[in-house]
Amino acid sequence: MTTGHDGSMIRAAVITLSDRGARGERTDESGPIIVDCITDLGGHVVSVEIIPDEAEVLKERLTAISDSGAANLILTTGGTGLSPRDITPEVTLAVADRIVPGFAEAMRSQSLTKTPHAMLSRAASVMRKSTLIINLPGSPRAVAECLEIIRPALAHAVAKACGDPNDCAR
Ligand code: MTE
Repeated sequence: MTTGHDGSMIRAAVITLSDRGARGERTDESGPIIVDCITDLGGHVVSVEIIPDEAEVLKERLTAISDSGAANLILTTGGTGLSPRDITPEVTLAVADRIVPGFAEAMRSQSLTKTPHAMLSRAASVMRKSTLIINLPGSPRAVAECLEIIRPALAHAVAKACGDPNDCAR
């Protein structure tokens, strides 16, 4: 599928939310899947980090990366579910300037064709300044499935978020 843009302008920051991962008690398999996807698209991964499911930590990371312009895309993985420590969507929405609901809507609706548990992800997709922030669920399988869904729109979305003035392809 063509999108009108290639992925070379993508500068992505990858954030894995996992208490156990941040303590070094679990190997992060989901972050590397995101890295592979961005690289495969021709984009650049500017940072990769594993942080605990702590609202203040995530808020600091999302605002610092967006406000410095270090990345034009932030992909988070984990913390979107119903457990008490799942805080990723709330923090993402709290730092948002604009909601970009299509990514989260597409992930949930298309993932439902694979598992009814897709209903449990509260993932959000937003913009802060010109940075697009998209939450992905945490499991490697969910990440791979959701990336497959959003991948065709990522390059065009980043170009538009960065101010590409050209008309979208009709
Ligand atoms: N989406 C897809 N495509 N595939 C999956 O396996 N797992 C679901 C859901 N979304 C899943 C998915 C499950 S089981 C949960 S609990 C939620 O994502 C939230 O996951 P998280 O808390 O790790 O972010």
